[in-house]
Amino acid sequence: MQNKQWILNSFPVGEIQDNDLILRDSELNAINDGEVLIKNIYLSLDPANRGWMSGRASYVDAMKIGDIMRGGTIGIIKESKNEKYKEGQIVQYQGGWQEYCINEGKGLRLVPQNSGLDLPSFLSVMGMPGITAYFGLLDVLKPMEGETLVVSGAAGAVGSIVSQIAKIKGCNVIGIAGTEEKCNWLLRDLKVDGAINYKTENLKDRLKDLCPNGVDMYFDNVGGEITEAVINRFNIGGRMSICGQISGYNSETVQPGPRNWINILVKRLKVQGFIVFDYQSRAKEAFIDMSKWIAEGKLHHKNHIVDGLENAVSSLKMLFSGENKGKMIVRIAND
Ligand SMILES: NC(=O)c1ccc[n+]([C@@H]2O[C@H](COP(=O)([O-])OP(=O)(O)OC[C@H]3O[C@@H](n4cnc5c(N)ncnc54)[C@H](OP(=O)(O)O)[C@@H]3O)[C@@H](O)[C@H]2O)c1
Repeated sequence: MQNKQWILNSFPVGEIQDNDLILRDSELNAINDGEVLIKNIYLSLDPANRGWMSGRASYVDAMKIGDIMRGGTIGIIKESKNEKYKEGQIVQYQGGWQEYCINEGKGLRLVPQNSGLDLPSFLSVMGMPGITAYFGLLDVLKPMEGETLVVSGAAGAVGSIVSQIAKIKGCNVIGIAGTEEKCNWLLRDLKVDGAINYKTENLKDRLKDLCPNGVDMYFDNVGGEITEAVINRFNIGGRMSICGQISGYNSETVQPGPRNWINILVKRLKVQGFIVFDYQSRAKEAFIDMSKWIAEGKLHHKNHIVDGLENAVSSLKMLFSGENKGKMIVRIAND
């Protein structure tokens, strides 16, 4: 059997180029005792993929040239020589950018069937971005009713869930996003209190208008100038949850920190970064609450699904141009 795989061909310099990854056919081996053969159905594309391709270790080991591109997947077990798993089970795991994966039965999470949710939801709201949003907001920022929260990247996979959970908790939520369509979605469907298009509006003025009593909390997905503008509006004792810094991921030079860092001192701000892996052992807490909110119609999500493994690179680039509308996912095979 043949297996199509995306291989890291070069470390990107700046924006990802088409030849940084190459699609190749390889021979699929027979499985050994203890192993399972999984057919990948959905592939999660995430901003973190860019960092993994850089050749530098971060919170995970660095990828090497020639490696199969790393990525979260949902797949179906086609054959099992592992007593814990059987044919036909659906699993979520790090299956990589490929059609098939042979796994030793490690790091597999069974996806509940008959949950009423479609499979891509387990890569978005009921997957890594959902856990990130839940704990990055509730554990790091500890929101209180009536407080004002600003969310950057607010219409994205993580930001859209953060915005809605904060509304559920009674906060005043202002979302920042890069298109009018995304801002309208935030206002009309997700019911945030204000939305700012940072590409067409004056961010500084709009933050002043929409946060007349200042900002108590900031959930940061992007960093850079957007973060600087929010820092200027903080109240004394404000809190920042640093989730992502996507505005700098394609940069070849180290980005300077916020130029108004002095505000951290003057306004006695608390700044905390976090990685979703820190909360893996508590994921169930998030899933219990979020499945309840979904069932009650209080939590919505949008998946942006592109067909075909061959379109993985062009789809990944959409995260950096802002063309994705919701969680970016590639459908590798029909479910
Ligand atoms: N800490 C963790 O464990 C963890 C886990 C998951 C994700 N993250 C981080 O969370 C952030 C959001 O991830 P996601 O999966 O939810 O992605 P996403 O928001 O669904 O997609 C990325 C979005 O970022 C925005 N963007 C791209 N370049 C930008 C720039 N230069 N300036 C401002 N905005 C820019 C675009 O939206 P616009 O159209 O609005 O510009 C784009 O749609 C990323 O920084 C990611 O690395 C962290």
